[in-house]
Amino acid sequence: MTYISIVDILQSDAIHQEFTVKGWVRSFRANQFVALNDGSTIKNLQCVVDFENTDDTLLKRITTGSAIIITGSLEESQGAGQRVEIKVKNIEIAGDADPEEVKLTILSPKRHTLEKLREQAHLRVRTNTFGAIMRMRSKLSFAIHQYFNERGFYQAHTPIITGSDAEGAGEMFQVTGLNLKNTPKTENGAVDYSQDFFGKETNLTVSGQLEAETYALGLGKVYTFGPTFRAENSNTSRHLAEFWMIEPEVAFCDLDGNMDLAEDFIKYVIQYVLENCQDDLEFLENRLIQEDKSKPQAERATMTLRDKLKFVVDNNFKRVSYTEAIDILRNSKPNKKKKFKYLINEWGADLQSEHERYLVEKHFECPVILFDYPANIKAFYMRLNEDGKTVRAMDILFPGIGEIVGGSQREERLDVLKEKMAALDIPEEELWWYLDTRKFGTCVHSGFGLGFERLVLFATGMGNIRDVIPYPRFPGHAEF
Ligand code: 4AD
Ligand code: MG
Repeated sequence: MTYISIVDILQSDAIHQEFTVKGWVRSFRANQFVALNDGSTIKNLQCVVDFENTDDTLLKRITTGSAIIITGSLEESQGAGQRVEIKVKNIEIAGDADPEEVKLTILSPKRHTLEKLREQAHLRVRTNTFGAIMRMRSKLSFAIHQYFNERGFYQAHTPIITGSDAEGAGEMFQVTGLNLKNTPKTENGAVDYSQDFFGKETNLTVSGQLEAETYALGLGKVYTFGPTFRAENSNTSRHLAEFWMIEPEVAFCDLDGNMDLAEDFIKYVIQYVLENCQDDLEFLENRLIQEDKSKPQAERATMTLRDKLKFVVDNNFKRVSYTEAIDILRNSKPNKKKKFKYLINEWGADLQSEHERYLVEKHFECPVILFDYPANIKAFYMRLNEDGKTVRAMDILFPGIGEIVGGSQREERLDVLKEKMAALDIPEEELWWYLDTRKFGTCVHSGFGLGFERLVLFATGMGNIRDVIPYPRFPGHAEF
């Protein structure tokens, strides 16, 4: 007798052999057919109960949502829909699920909206859709580590509590050990952080980049993969207050090398799920096809989910400078007809997501890498170009997603970096350690950050970032 996952048993040829399977009942039909799921695959295992020789009270406890342990022999299935099934010899109820109560939850077998599922995020992983998404999320995570490991990158674990604002955007969650009802005060009445846990003001990190840079300048090629936090009040389907970011950083690498790395990396991880998540992708693809049927023709997807992923793997990303992009946008129909909320009038304008999506979805119809942005709309650490007004920044824009990657070649010249910091009122004392790297063996280096949830969003075809992380954090929501 062997304990085995359903994903393995469904591929097994050990006909007549006895197995034990453990999982949750998805449905129990005709007092005979249990559809059992253990999370290892989207597919259920059919277990056929000999109801005539099974105790009635036991049969009544095989209900949707209950946890059961079944022992029986693997047999070729007579019914359509599955190759093999389990002929049940013994059933043990591990955990009951009262049908009256199940009825009130998303475990009940009917269509629930994604909003409803979000309210019961602790149970939604037991649905087909969320099982598929979360398995894919895990596979993508693995592929990311594998990609970097195969290429000689080391993972750097950068701190989660920091004293700096890497992006300079001021969107940080403060971390304090002080009693907020009674904070110590300085002479002039301000909070006295010297008495706080760390003896200074601290916050949750918005990015591991600055620390990753110091590690790249020692280990050569590094990447971070950790949670990052932004206290930006954006209630959109693309933003979370807590999200995971992958940030590679490479010494002796310029912006072109950075773009090559980012494109190759994204293609690799998408190819990985195409090869390793076939059942889940098929399910999610069909889900989208069903969803599209209720939409007007013009709003329906032109490509299936897997075709969309293959398209990304097979085609070069279009590389376009910010200046070229502004020209395209300025002359675009939605700009001329004043359809954009933010009209593009002149060079220097920050791009909003409506502009990014126009470029990707309408104009180029493929992933786009925009580079050489105006210095004053980008962070302080980006390398200034010879023109004195643009920086070696790059953003990767994806169809349906908008910005998926943000990165740059870093300013490696101490004097230029100091000038930029001064212009932005960033105190040198705060980043003395960062400046040190420019004093001791500075070199050209580059990196980028990829928002993990935006990648999962793209790979699963889901529409809302709150549905691709187990427990989403966004304004007003920190349940679970
Ligand atoms: O463009 P961002 O802000 O860049 C940085 O943080 C750099 N330090 C990265 C680097 O060069 N090492 O963020 C990088 C990516 C974005 O392109 C986006 O995919 C994702 O992180 N992102 C978010 N994802 C979900 N929710 C949010 N609120 C996000 N903010 C950024
Ligand atoms: Mg960005």
